[in-house]
Amino acid sequence: MLSKHTSNLPSYSLDSPIVYQLEIVGGTCNLKCPVCPVTENKTDRVNNYFSLATLDKLINEDAFKNTFYLELQMYGEPTMHRNFDEIVSKLKTTGVKLGLSTNATIWREGFKQLDFITISADSRIYRVGRNEEHFWKVVDKIINETNAHIDLQVIEINDWEKQVKLLEEKYKDKSNVLIRTIGDNFGDTGRHPLANDVCINPFISVSVDSDGDVVPCCFMNNKEYVYGNINTNSLKEIWEGQLHKDFVESWLSGNIIEKCKNCRMRSPQLLHYRFAVEWERRGWL
Ligand SMILES: C[S@@+](CC[C@H](N)C(=O)[O-])C[C@H]1O[C@@H](n2cnc3c(N)ncnc32)[C@H](O)[C@@H]1O
Ligand code: SF4
Ligand code: SF4
Repeated sequence: MLSKHTSNLPSYSLDSPIVYQLEIVGGTCNLKCPVCPVTENKTDRVNNYFSLATLDKLINEDAFKNTFYLELQMYGEPTMHRNFDEIVSKLKTTGVKLGLSTNATIWREGFKQLDFITISADSRIYRVGRNEEHFWKVVDKIINETNAHIDLQVIEINDWEKQVKLLEEKYKDKSNVLIRTIGDNFGDTGRHPLANDVCINPFISVSVDSDGDVVPCCFMNNKEYVYGNINTNSLKEIWEGQLHKDFVESWLSGNIIEKCKNCRMRSPQLLHYRFAVEWERRGWL
């Protein structure tokens, strides 16, 4: 039950995060979507690949003991990691529910071990450089050959309404497919006003960059706030550290950093919380 993880909020007394994002590929991608920080070189990453030794360290120090969901995503295309399948196998030994956000241009056998797969299913107008025929083949293979719950995500940009209709028609008989939209968080389409809610990310979650930096969420594309580095300290030390405490306090006092002031995705729009509520409603969690 999701409520078992969130009933004691707001508090940072949790032993360790319950949601993680892990950036196994940072700063490189085989597509060039506009308004993505990777395409626009608005990240500090340069062709980074998460190290297997660092992953072993995280697993060995039991960093995922309270975690109900870990997602491979952030600023690059995760399937471009040559050890993708090995990373998935290692993470599955921890018992976490494992998800992925992918542009669905590369098929990996490791997909078969995943619990959730978010496919960035925007039309080609947004996903620049994609071979359409190949993309739809990979999407169909993911839907038909994995046991994962499939989350087809469309950003509310360009011709998104048309794309949603197309997906709804194409996959209307697939009960493992959820079609979902999100606002544009990096461009300035003006569709979504800035949010006023307290963000629950700092209380429950961390994101780990491809170089081992631990940051508050997956929108910190340029190290706007860093709690510490997993190669230098344990996750426990970082989670219990002063920089994490200060960040949480900034939310409780309302004195938040500029990045957060300009964020359109904070809770209750918080993506993972919103997904989780929907998944729980469907009985997927
Ligand atoms: C940067 S991508 C990295 C993972 C993978 N390459 C992909 O596209 O799914 C991580 C997530 O950010 C989303 N994203 C990209 N541009 C965005 C934007 N302008 N606003 C909101 N989300 C965006 C993607 O759709 C994806 O779900
Ligand atoms: S596929 Fe993902 S990482 Fe690559 S450019 Fe598009 S949104 Fe960015
Ligand atoms: S407000 Fe936005 S940028 Fe700040 S921690 Fe929350 S999700 Fe991240």
